Amino acid sequence: MNTSVTVLGLGLMGSALAEALLGDGRTVTVWNRSHAKADPLVAKGAVKAETAAEAISASPLVIVCLSVYTDAEGILGDAAGRTIVQLTNGTPRQARALADRVTGQGGRYVDGGIMAVPPMIGRPEALILYSGDEGAFEEHSETLAVLGRPQFLGGDPGLAPLFDLALLDAMYGMIAGFQHAVALVRSEKVPATTFEPMVTAWLTAMMALFPEQARAVEAGDFATRVSSVATSQVAFPGLIETSRDQGVDPGHLPALRDLFDRAVAEGHGDDGLARLITLLERPAR
Ligand SMILES: NC(=O)c1ccc[n+]([C@@H]2O[C@H](COP(=O)([O-])OP(=O)(O)OC[C@H]3O[C@@H](n4cnc5c(N)ncnc54)[C@H](OP(=O)(O)O)[C@@H]3O)[C@@H](O)[C@H]2O)c1
Repeated sequence: MNTSVTVLGLGLMGSALAEALLGDGRTVTVWNRSHAKADPLVAKGAVKAETAAEAISASPLVIVCLSVYTDAEGILGDAAGRTIVQLTNGTPRQARALADRVTGQGGRYVDGGIMAVPPMIGRPEALILYSGDEGAFEEHSETLAVLGRPQFLGGDPGLAPLFDLALLDAMYGMIAGFQHAVALVRSEKVPATTFEPMVTAWLTAMMALFPEQARAVEAGDFATRVSSVATSQVAFPGLIETSRDQGVDPGHLPALRDLFDRAVAEGHGDDGLARLITLLERPAR
């Protein structure tokens, strides 16, 4: 087995990836736009390449981790005979376009999404999503497992960024709700630290509704014995009015109110909340 790996991009994440590979005894060639960032890794045994092209030619497996996708597109030269594992965050469309370019040059392409922060890299709790060339993924799976817990999602290179973005979507929605709720109680001088355990317990309990919502939307069965769309809809005028009364920006609440209003107007008031997923799949004009 060839254990040589190249890492392009030595920011916080790229350096953590390279360090994990060095810790596993791999031969690691590194390149970074600002050359000095390679020095701590060279001190740990990495080989420093002067150019991205030199780094790409050094190893059969090339891991890319830059700030944004267009940076990665800019530095990737000839990928013939190489497996490119692109871990820079991007969109499904960007991943599919880069996959076409790499395969057109005679390379193999796997896209990935890192669901972890740099200190977690190298540990099983670091979930890393992959999709694209399955043969290339399998061939390098032992090396990729050094970085974290790999999960392969399928042959479409757009799947890994899609899942990555969907998980971020869920996270930011939850954080937005938490932060808005904190602003509401702070408007009456209640410390966030007093309120936080209550909201954390509440959100944890509410997450128990997710499996039933997932089942309902897949089955197209929206009958509910828990909470209807109409019951939730009536909460929104009070939520928005109270935000304004307390001097708090209503934030995401008007958009949610509009979605509930649309569901009721379309005759779905008696359905369970999973019905809203189907409205989101059919954006309002
Ligand atoms: N950090 C995290 O917690 C985390 C978690 C999950 C995913 N990610 C993803 O991992 C990727 C890297 O994040 P990071 O935290 O390592 O970012 P970072 O610390 O800001 O590092 C950015 C890297 O991109 C390079 N770069 C920027 N513009 C470039 C260009 N035009 N040409 C060549 N290189 C360029 C930088 O080179 P210079 O050193 O020369 O500026 C540096 O190596 C991002 O897509 C991020 O979304 C990060």
